[in-house]
Amino acid sequence: MLPTHPSAARAIHRADYRPPAFWIDTVALTFDLDPAKTRVLNRMTLRRNPAVAAQALRLDGEDLSLVRVLCNGAGTSFRLEEGVLVLEKLPSDDKPFELEIFTTCTPVDNTRLMGLYVSQDTFTTQCEPEGFRRITYFLDRPDVMARFTVTLRADRDRYPVLLSNGNLVDSGPLDGNRHMATWEDPFRKPCYLFALVAGKLACREQRVVSRTGKEHLLQVYVRPADIEKTEHAMQSLCKSVVWDESRFGLSLDLERYMIVATSDFNMGAMENKGLNIFNSKYVLAARATATDADFANIERVIGHEYFHNWTGNRITCRDWFQLSLKEGLTVFRDQEFSMDLCAQPSARAVQRISEVRDLRTVQFAEDASPVAHPVRPDSYVEINNFYTATVYEKGAEVVRMMQTLVGREGFAAGMRLYFERHDGSAVTCEDFLRAVSDANPGSLLATRCAAFERWYSQAGTPRIVVSDHYDPDAATYTLHLAQNCPQCPGQATAAPFVLPIALGLVGARTGAALPLHPQSEIPGRQDGDSLLVVLDQSQCSLRFEQVQEPPVPSLLRGFSAPAIVQYAYSDDQLYTLLANDTDPFNRWEAGQRLALQHAVAVITSGTGTGDTGALSGRFLDAMRGVLRHPGLDPAFKDLVLTLPSEAYISEQLDVVDPQRIHAVREAMRTQLATALQEDWQWAYEQHGDNGGYRFDPVSCGRRALCGLALAYLCLAAEVEQAMQAHPVWPGKAYQRCKDADNMTDRFHALSALVHSGNALAQPALARFYEQFRSEELVIDKWFALQAGCNDRGGQVLSAVRKLLQHPDFTLRNPNRARSVIFSYCLHNPGAFHRVDAGGYVLWGEQVLAIDAINPQVAARLVRAMDNWKKLAQPYRDGAFDALSRLAGKADLSKDVRELVTRVLAD
Ligand code: TRP
Ligand code: ZN
Repeated sequence: MLPTHPSAARAIHRADYRPPAFWIDTVALTFDLDPAKTRVLNRMTLRRNPAVAAQALRLDGEDLSLVRVLCNGAGTSFRLEEGVLVLEKLPSDDKPFELEIFTTCTPVDNTRLMGLYVSQDTFTTQCEPEGFRRITYFLDRPDVMARFTVTLRADRDRYPVLLSNGNLVDSGPLDGNRHMATWEDPFRKPCYLFALVAGKLACREQRVVSRTGKEHLLQVYVRPADIEKTEHAMQSLCKSVVWDESRFGLSLDLERYMIVATSDFNMGAMENKGLNIFNSKYVLAARATATDADFANIERVIGHEYFHNWTGNRITCRDWFQLSLKEGLTVFRDQEFSMDLCAQPSARAVQRISEVRDLRTVQFAEDASPVAHPVRPDSYVEINNFYTATVYEKGAEVVRMMQTLVGREGFAAGMRLYFERHDGSAVTCEDFLRAVSDANPGSLLATRCAAFERWYSQAGTPRIVVSDHYDPDAATYTLHLAQNCPQCPGQATAAPFVLPIALGLVGARTGAALPLHPQSEIPGRQDGDSLLVVLDQSQCSLRFEQVQEPPVPSLLRGFSAPAIVQYAYSDDQLYTLLANDTDPFNRWEAGQRLALQHAVAVITSGTGTGDTGALSGRFLDAMRGVLRHPGLDPAFKDLVLTLPSEAYISEQLDVVDPQRIHAVREAMRTQLATALQEDWQWAYEQHGDNGGYRFDPVSCGRRALCGLALAYLCLAAEVEQAMQAHPVWPGKAYQRCKDADNMTDRFHALSALVHSGNALAQPALARFYEQFRSEELVIDKWFALQAGCNDRGGQVLSAVRKLLQHPDFTLRNPNRARSVIFSYCLHNPGAFHRVDAGGYVLWGEQVLAIDAINPQVAARLVRAMDNWKKLAQPYRDGAFDALSRLAGKADLSKDVRELVTRVLAD
């Protein structure tokens, strides 16, 4: 039994949703900005919701000092109940009335970074999901939408730029060297989309004309020193505007669209209406300081927040259980955006593979853990804990399946109907599904809409169990498909999911794409050499005729459903797919399966053979074939030649020994490094610099493959060195750290030295630090690389402890805290899981230390222990001890408390 504490918070249930008892029509906010004491005057007009029985008005508030409450200009009685401002004596008729609430707050002490806070002497806000209540008393729920007018007053020298949502309608000087600005947002919005910014900022701007002929002003605000790093962000924003118009016919609805970068931010970015606030990591880029991955992330996140303007802001969520309504859909949209920016089909495939790789390592693990939850959760204690891979990434897959079932055109029609029906309102996930379905009567989706809805209500990753039979005499091939889903916490057995399965047949002898002649009642659709079938029962059979050679099934092409395919592929079959499949996703998948099968066999064999490497000569030859292949993209080769991560290997095992997994995978990498040494050398030389830095899929692919080659070459060098040879590659990597003309190449070289454990790593790290000490985002990488370092003799833990003492380290800046602590605890399993439990001890200390500053960030760190029950001994006992110690602490935030409780529950 866990101890209960007075602060133990109540769970909120989706089934308890009730419409609000009052509506708020307009809000006029006046801020006197002062870091130590900001005064907030809130004048709003409200009226009773005639659909709800008369009751008291209960306004949310948190960490506020209440000065005054007036109703229609006169004093009124009120009381405070656990932070909630309760007003009982309000006009009883249905007429609008005015409420004036005067409060103060202390932005400089706001270390949670929710509500109004100060970052580097700039005022910033973060209101989603429940931060607005830290600014003023309000009905802090997304179904209450009001029109906002905001006046900001502040010192003119210290805060020359004053921003809020909408249009600037007034500005000017005030007495005492102060000034003011008034902003009016023409759109009704929920308060979680409110934002203000005040500080010393510079701005890059650009005008764009939308299809409607209207001109819009786009602005990117940053610290003056960063203005040179905003070009890529602005370009990404322009591309986003163009894409949403051409793909979905959605135009920008604002005269002015602003993006502000801040260094202190809990998450990636926030879609506040017309005034997006971004973690600077997703805005600032220059070739000297940002990697290709940074450039790509900026493009994606800028797109994501921009697309929220329609999917999230124009149509918002009825309640926070519907979070995936906006997040799943908007992630789907940003994925489509990134894909559509790729000119080549192969680059689209690369994009898809990277997304699926993330989904399978993070979301599948979440779905298999004690914190598993449906895309639309049923209850929560702290909603911040539900901004998860399930809600975001699996939610996006659910939307993608809708598109797969109704087709691209049908999906666009569904979007149009969604806006026709719901523009300007707060709705549910079901409303979206219904719109897509209704727009496509008779479609594969519309005919099984109720069953499809289970993707929102049931947790867990479905398994597709496949068996087959080929009859050479009759030339028929039968596929048997069945589905099941493992038990999830608090969920009875799952009913069948609607699984769109794209598949094809590849000739085992010729490698040719076999023509498909399906003979069955299964609903589906044919597209080239692929067939889309819908498995919506627990099982079904599918027969093909005129199959002239034994086929290898290529299943779940393009990852057409977020599921696990279980089919007993032979190595021969996988080599056939790796060499021939017309579906690039499954081609990659075949290579991953081969590597996985080798790894799992060695890991579970219990012998020491892992240390000499698990990879067969045939596998190594196949990898060489891919690496040297004249027709494949470097970016694709990079993905194929990267072994499945330790996290993904862990996914395949019932009992996880992180040390053993790490050792076996490292041995495999060393094998790949030495067996293909000449090929890596060739690859490095072939794909090296050919002129200046450009950010495009082809150049990025070349740099990625070069980086991988260098990593393997430095690894091979360690083996040579052990044999008293004098390898040249570490020296070349060191040289590259010095003279690279872009951060991608430089960081690849530095990483190659650090991960291979070469003696040149230390001087390279020192040099890198000196060169970039004034670039906070680069120093984050420097910290992260060391904390995420390949652990060779258990040295990483003490290195991390040293980094925590570094003068540049601080727990208060989330990016910095993540760069050291999260890199170690969440992304370096081989170093974090120790026989002496030292990693877990550090984890427990840091959760507590961060929790005292910023519960939201601390709760993310708790997640390092999600899968503790699968750990082998002694890790399991060590993890349990650490979790129990944490659970026994009295003053945990409700964020951390909820997760620790869930993770420990039986
Ligand atoms: N809505 C944001 C997004 O685009 C998520 C987000 C940003 C957020 N900042 C936050 C969520 C702070 C919770 C708290 O995905
Ligand atoms: Zn989002």
